[in-house]
Amino acid sequence: MPGEHEAIENLLAESRTFPPPPAFAAEAVVSDPAIYDEATADLEGFWAKEATDFHWYREWDRVLNWEPPFAQWYLGATTNITYNCLDRHIEAGGGDKVAYHWVGEPGDERTITYAELHEDVCRAANVLERMGVGTGDRVAIYMPMIPEIVVAMLACARIGAPHTVVFGGFSAEALTDRVHDCEAKVIITADGGWRRGQVSDLKTAADQAFDNSPTVDLKLVVRRTGHEIQWNDDEDIWWHEAMEAAEATCEPVEVDSEHMLYLLYTSGTTGKPKGIKHTTGGYMVGTAVTHRWVFDIRPEDVYWCAADVGWVTGHSYIVYGPLLNHTTSVMYEGTPDYPDKDRWWDIIERHRVSILYCAPTAIRMFMKWGDAYPARHDMSSLRLLGSVGEPINPEAWMWYREHIGGDRCPIVDTWWQTETGTILLSPLPGITTTKPGSATFPLPGVAADVVDDAGNSVPLGHGGYLVLRKPWPAMLRGLYRDDERYRETYWTRFPGVYFAGDGAKRDEDGYFWLLGRVDDVMNVSGHRISTTEVESALVEHPAVAEAAVVGRNDPVTGQAVAAFVVLRAGVDGTQEMHGELRAHVAGLIGPFAKPKSIVFTPDLPKTRSGKIMRRLLRDISEDRQLGDITTLANADIMEAIAEQAAVSPED
Ligand code: PRX
Repeated sequence: MPGEHEAIENLLAESRTFPPPPAFAAEAVVSDPAIYDEATADLEGFWAKEATDFHWYREWDRVLNWEPPFAQWYLGATTNITYNCLDRHIEAGGGDKVAYHWVGEPGDERTITYAELHEDVCRAANVLERMGVGTGDRVAIYMPMIPEIVVAMLACARIGAPHTVVFGGFSAEALTDRVHDCEAKVIITADGGWRRGQVSDLKTAADQAFDNSPTVDLKLVVRRTGHEIQWNDDEDIWWHEAMEAAEATCEPVEVDSEHMLYLLYTSGTTGKPKGIKHTTGGYMVGTAVTHRWVFDIRPEDVYWCAADVGWVTGHSYIVYGPLLNHTTSVMYEGTPDYPDKDRWWDIIERHRVSILYCAPTAIRMFMKWGDAYPARHDMSSLRLLGSVGEPINPEAWMWYREHIGGDRCPIVDTWWQTETGTILLSPLPGITTTKPGSATFPLPGVAADVVDDAGNSVPLGHGGYLVLRKPWPAMLRGLYRDDERYRETYWTRFPGVYFAGDGAKRDEDGYFWLLGRVDDVMNVSGHRISTTEVESALVEHPAVAEAAVVGRNDPVTGQAVAAFVVLRAGVDGTQEMHGELRAHVAGLIGPFAKPKSIVFTPDLPKTRSGKIMRRLLRDISEDRQLGDITTLANADIMEAIAEQAAVSPED
């Protein structure tokens, strides 16, 4: 585990504890610790009870069918998640409540009520049906952070068409791969979005994916920026024109609890992204319940999850969880430094945000920018803070608490994954005494454990691998059309037990501390990127003979991509080549995957069997004493690489 020992030592030194403030605990949504025992004693009974708040056309025959590694929840039940997100609240008289206060980067704002959202979703569902999309057909969504992305997802769910949202930062190639893999019928996109005062173009990439994907019939295009784009009447439809012509009502399609709600692609340890499959009933119950528990959601809250809808955090905690709980959310289109570095704090002040949920990488960036930016604003409306996506170091945790939370807001550090669908490890803010940097405990009903190589639980105070011993409602149901890879990736290392791919440790008090990935997956600014994916991108460039990529610790982004490249004979490792390779990776995957450093070297460190020893490259990248090199076939190369690394430029 990279840096594990160092991390454990640092964490062992952490002795500060923060019990829930008494006033917070007195009012909390979950205030009785008996909930943990109740869930453990009767897991199915517990999840049956939690499911009763929702609207089911037909009740389940069985709560759970568990044939490892395949789970089915609420068997035989039928529902529609958009009915539960929208119609249910409107019928109860809550149509006028604000669903989203949306803030555009240039300063334009929109307020959308539940009733308005419902109407838009119905219209968009009718538009999709008119475009030939039926129940079960996949729809790709490649959009900026505008309200229409929520409408698009819900419109798909309304008619039982699984959506595949592809983060707008992905390149045309990455979009094409995903559209191809899921055989989407329609792509919903936009002319572009606003980022740091510039238009980020999306339509060109959508055109390219369309041209290379025979399954796609049409593109539905939202006009956001108004800049000039390529237009083809045979394949492009303007969203606003189609919406205006569509009926404002649309009956939700009744789907089975196990009907596929969406696919979301994520990086694994190979170059090919995995299509994580989520279904309807269990995901609905899981997202709503965890959102309510962890964020202590009350009717008057203004909740802001600052993730992008293109990642699972956005799916579960911008779209489904909050809407299922009839919550008012803030949604922001752009970057935190536009027009100035206090944009977030300005939004919090103006909208009286009470709950903020964001990533440690953002917090560390704000720390770097300085205390003055948050200090300019009245953020007394905040009462709870959340963190997600990567381990939060105690220093960032304390800064977040002090400078954003005014020393009064509890912090919930939430551990989960695209695969888990919902938060699994987190404090319950009215119950749990927190420690800076720890995700504390598994939520009620979650059977998390830390095990050694043989799969045995390690004693308190020790580290190992994070596993989950029991199914949970929102768990992935598999990888799209690849059961074998599903078994192999998550269920074979420790048979019958879910292997998360993360290192973890429990301290003497039983608190969980996450220690980062144990496989070849990097976590850069909370984005999951596989080392293999970047290596494959690099070797696709004609100048590159071989490449090795490692994630190295970075004070702001958590990890940064460090590449080691062997160029083909006759090619020089110039500054231009450096820039060209970075641009090449951005083109194939997306700008966020660009290597921060590229070291040109005549060879890579290899074992006698030809395996690249990445851990030595990690040592070099992190300026550490080299580990054991006795198994290297070409030990001399290390010195040359270290010398080269010392003089290589960084971006
Ligand atoms: O390594 C863990 C890290 O992010 C991985 C999951 O990434 P992704 O599927 O993109 O989902 C991110 C948002 C849920 C995990 O395997 N991770 C996520 N949350 C935490 C975390 N690491 C430490 N602490 C967390 N709170």
